[in-house]
This record gives sequence, structure tokens and C-alpha cells, in this order.
Amino acid sequence: MPDFDEQWEKVMEEKYFNKKKGQFDFTQKRVEEFKKLTGVKDNEFVGKVCLDAGCGPGIWTYAMQKLGAKKVDSFDISAEAIKRCRKINPDAYVSDILDLKSNPVYDFVLCLGVLHHNRNTREGFSKIASQVKTGGMLHVMVYDKKHDHEYDGYRGNTCVEKHKEWEKLSFEEKIKMCEKKVETIGGDIHGWFDAFNPEFNWSFSSEEVEQWFEEEGFDKMKLRVKSHFNSIPTSQVNMNGIKS
Ligand SMILES: C[S@@+](CC[C@H](N)C(=O)[O-])C[C@H]1O[C@@H](n2cnc3c(N)ncnc32)[C@H](O)[C@@H]1O
Repeated sequence: MPDFDEQWEKVMEEKYFNKKKGQFDFTQKRVEEFKKLTGVKDNEFVGKVCLDAGCGPGIWTYAMQKLGAKKVDSFDISAEAIKRCRKINPDAYVSDILDLKSNPVYDFVLCLGVLHHNRNTREGFSKIASQVKTGGMLHVMVYDKKHDHEYDGYRGNTCVEKHKEWEKLSFEEKIKMCEKKVETIGGDIHGWFDAFNPEFNWSFSSEEVEQWFEEEGFDKMKLRVKSHFNSIPTSQVNMNGIKS
């Protein structure tokens, strides 16, 4: 079962959210967050074809639709995620980034919080880069190395070893562990579950990510979101670039 099925199936009830209640609702707030996150302006997607790779429940698919996209293709390896995304997008399907064949037809490709959950993040980057047409934009988010220390070994180079401990826990024990984190550090149960549950939680520096863009033939890279806002944490490298 893909790592995220459990999260999208069992950890989406109101009681698992605290500060970030409504984080997965399809509302105008998502559109505003998306604009700030990517730098995309109102109407910029009119007539454009977009791809949401690793869409999860589809909050950013929704934002792209609202910003005028002619079509948004959304896919995720988790069938539970796709069940949710289908509520707003008929063009949502179960698929794996690593199975993508080169198909440079998209004006905009989003891959937010996805690639670091794969054994080989760099290979995944190459696959999604191959979907962007010349002049199109790719926006990715991966975890920022600088914040590894906040995740008790579950993020960065030690993640695979640490995940073995998590796997031994029952669902109830996992929730308890997240509750403890909420009590001692803050945030909400969903957020901690999201941090602990995946087997792979690699992290990177913005320099590394910028180099990937260069290697795949992109330029005009921009590092986005340097201060906290709404539901977008800043412990991430958020970067976009234009395919040349
Ligand atoms: C943290 S969630 C982010 C979801 C969404 N992009 C968002 O920002 O709300 C990561 C998602 O990536 C998906 N994912 C991870 N590896 C994938 C792969 N190789 N192919 C497709 N989806 C993948 C997971 O199933 C999960 O739904």
C-alpha cells in the first residue's frame, strides 16, 4: 500500500487538525496560497494546460482550475488521494511519477512535496522535468535540509532507519506519538503524521535543487516563500524555473 493511503484515508477527520483546520478544503484561500507560493498571477493560466504530479487530495489542482487553466491533469500513486481529487477533477488518475515517459506538452507542472518521498528524488525530478514544454514553468517543493533537526531523525539521511521504528507501531500508537508532539511542540496531528509516516523523507539545499533545474535545461530559477504565511511552512525549498 502506498505510504500515503493511510494518511488520506484515516487522518483527514476534523479532530486531527488544530491550527490548520480547513487546510484541505477547496476554497479561495487555496488560490491565494498558490499564487503566493508560485508567483503565478490571476488569469495567467487562461488557456493553459497544467499537470499536478503527486496531487494528493487536489488542493492545488483546484487553485489551478480557479486561475483559469483550460485543463489540469492530476495524478497520484495513492488511490485514496485520487478518490478525493476526483471530486473536483475528472482528469485525475492513479499513476507513478517514475513511470512517466518524456511528454513535453504542459505549460505548467507542479510537484509539491512529492519527490522527497521517493527512493531516488533526482530521478523523479528528471521525469517531471520531461513533461514541461519549452517556455513552460516547473514548480517543485522538497524538504529543506536546514530543518532536519526538528524531526527526530525521521527527515534526512536517517529517515529509512528511523521509519522501521514507526512501522512497528499500531495506528493508535502512531496517533499517540503525534499527539505528544502537538503537546510539546505544537502543530496538529495530521501534520506530524505527514512528517513521520513516509518511508523516504529526504531533504536538500536550495543550491542542489537549482542545479537539478540547470541540468534539465531550465533557467530563470526563483526560490519562493521565505517567510511563513497561511498553511505553507518555510522548512521547504520551493523553487520554479522556465524550460529553455
Ligand atoms: C505530502 S503529499 C502532497 C500532496 C499535494 N502535492 C499537496 O501539496 O497537497 C505527497 C503526495 O505525493 C504522492 N507521491 C509520492 N510519490 C509519488 C510518485 N512516485 N508518484 C505519484 N505520486 C507520488 C503521495 O501519494 C502523496 O499523496
